[in-house]
Amino acid sequence: MTAEYKVHGDVAVISMANPPVNGLGLSTRIGITDGVAKANADSAIKAIVITGAGKAFSGGADIREFGSAKASQEPNLLSVIRVCENSAKPVVAAIHSVAMGGGLELALGCHYRIAAPGASIALPEVKLGLIPGAGGTQRLPRVIGVEPALNMIVSGEPIKSEMLAMLPGQKLFDKMAASAESLAEEALALARQMAAVHADGSAKPLVKNLPCKHPQGDAYFQFARNMVKGMSKNFPAPGKCVDAVEAATKQKFEEGMLTEREIFTNLMMTPESRALRHIFIADRAASKIADVPEDTPKRTIASVAVIGAGTMGGGISMNFLNAGIPVKILEMKQDALDRGLATIRKNYESQVKKGKLKQAKYDERMALLSTTLSYDDIGQADLVIEAVFEEMGVKEAVFKKLDEVMKPGAILASNTSTLDVNKIASFTQRPQDVVGMHFFSPANVMKLLEVVRGAQTSKDVLATVMAIGKKIKKTSVVSGVCDGFIGNRMIEQYSRQAGFLVDEGCTPAQVDKAVEKFGFAMGPFRMGDLAGNDIGWAIRKRRALERPNMMYSKTADLLCEMGRFGQKTSAGWYDYQAGKRDAIPSKAVVDMIETYRTSKGITPRKIADEEIVQRLVFALVNEAAHILEEGIAGKASDIDMVYLTGYGFPIFRGGPMLYADQVGLFNVVQAMHRFAQNPLDDAKFWQPAPLLARLVNEGKNFN
Ligand code: NAI
Repeated sequence: MTAEYKVHGDVAVISMANPPVNGLGLSTRIGITDGVAKANADSAIKAIVITGAGKAFSGGADIREFGSAKASQEPNLLSVIRVCENSAKPVVAAIHSVAMGGGLELALGCHYRIAAPGASIALPEVKLGLIPGAGGTQRLPRVIGVEPALNMIVSGEPIKSEMLAMLPGQKLFDKMAASAESLAEEALALARQMAAVHADGSAKPLVKNLPCKHPQGDAYFQFARNMVKGMSKNFPAPGKCVDAVEAATKQKFEEGMLTEREIFTNLMMTPESRALRHIFIADRAASKIADVPEDTPKRTIASVAVIGAGTMGGGISMNFLNAGIPVKILEMKQDALDRGLATIRKNYESQVKKGKLKQAKYDERMALLSTTLSYDDIGQADLVIEAVFEEMGVKEAVFKKLDEVMKPGAILASNTSTLDVNKIASFTQRPQDVVGMHFFSPANVMKLLEVVRGAQTSKDVLATVMAIGKKIKKTSVVSGVCDGFIGNRMIEQYSRQAGFLVDEGCTPAQVDKAVEKFGFAMGPFRMGDLAGNDIGWAIRKRRALERPNMMYSKTADLLCEMGRFGQKTSAGWYDYQAGKRDAIPSKAVVDMIETYRTSKGITPRKIADEEIVQRLVFALVNEAAHILEEGIAGKASDIDMVYLTGYGFPIFRGGPMLYADQVGLFNVVQAMHRFAQNPLDDAKFWQPAPLLARLVNEGKNFN
């Protein structure tokens, strides 16, 4: 049982005890209902306190039960709350640390509530594409007022208990404890006091009996609905929060509960909620590596050295400075250092100007930063990250030097995006300490960190890098060694399809629009212009030597031959006006594409948006299936996290793998067979990856 029952004189204390956050899993729910029944059956008991052991009152639903039958098995949360409300002896919720979702709903079903200051109070269901499902939308407005409740429910954001206690007329907390330490004692005292009050058998207060009205009624809800609509494009849940709270003001309590339930059940079945719940779990799962136990000892990382103060080196350094970890940057020449430092300063200063960073914080961070031209100065760093030019010869020189100067036990990381990490490790006598840390540009902004596991990378190095990734607030995903790792290896197939689509009749703008309508932050051509088309050009030149027979559209090369590298040259797939980022369709590019088509004897055809999106996204999916089968990615959900956090894949679709699952893998494979018939496409590529074919045969999906 994951709830404890203890007797303190004439008060029974039920402590939820289901670490880490006392999630309301089945056995905890049984523990509470059993506890309330036991206390009511014991004539020596006068009142009941419900609280949480350890670090939370309760964080709400137990995510380990998500999607399982246990989640709704009786007693479900609604029944638990009913048991508390119907208890003949008064029930006091003693809230501390965290009361969220179902945890808060449970407290709202108790007769009295006492809270410690500093507790985070929230109904975060909207973040999973849902609304609260156990009375939260009906009870919270009754105790803190309609507007504050709707704000909490629509945003899902936590508010501190002491702030809520200051709301005029609030009935959420009957009492604030002086401190977290005194909460237990004060809760017992409150329970005894209420036992005395109700000794005469008088009715105990129930939140559901409180009135719920908004003075402006319809006008207010219309306003709220408009506000929410503007902010929640593609997500139905926030708008439904408004509906549910409105029901609290217009319907009788029991009716409102039915409305809430109906909305909740409908949302549960939306692809958007499925995507958000998938991401919630995928995000937590990404940090778990099958053969690296969670208790693997980690190395201490108290200082970091970064080699190279270019685009990436600067951004990478900022991550550590932001986390309070000192950084020393090494460069070859003073002017490169000066430029790098100036960029970091400029970046922070613009944050200060925008009011996003306090001057004192900025000063603190800059004080942690130092620079050097000499390897002698970095030998004592716990972690060194190399971000020099993308050339094996340069990496070789750097890693040989690092092997000489770094103290034993230091972690040697490379930010390479395309080179073989095993080869880089082989330049040292300590390949077990070498790992890839592939940041994405701009490195201080992008969430994704691909942690590249070399053949010899030791488990404690991997565990340490994953932990440091968390510390600098990245989503870290482990990738095996292969060309492009997880993300770029997949994007290559996506880009190739974008090229074929242009060959066959699309304009770049048409492809971008279709993909952006699907929900991507940016289509492939606008993306190319932003990143610089010359980067892909250089990679293709190298690939042409490695894979001379690979089919691809030559239009991207022709574009680069025209000097159209993208925004930085004010011309790429689109034209750009000086200082502006608006992509203007380019006549020169359209002409170039037409000439190319003619030279290839291609008669352009009209291509529907649906085909555009399917070819681009299913190309990602097929390559991902290879990546999964080869063990480059540990699990399908890791691939989703890579695409959601590093490549702008639409959140509401949950990543390419979940999207494929939702479309149905059978349908995905059928489409791939169709694409393979297209003489202008790469039929070989469209052979379904063996894993994909197997899953279809077995009627299974990725997740
Ligand atoms: P960059 O050209 O902006 O910066 C490289 C810096 O390294 C320059 O300041 C250069 O002076 C310095 N450098 C070169 N050789 C050195 C040496 N031997 N010792 C010390 N410093 C040296 O290049 P960028 O874009 O920052 O790329 C660096 C690495 O990060 C490359 O491996 C690249 O593939 C990778 N990367 C780049 C991304 C991007 O979007 N730019 C994204 C992810 C990874």
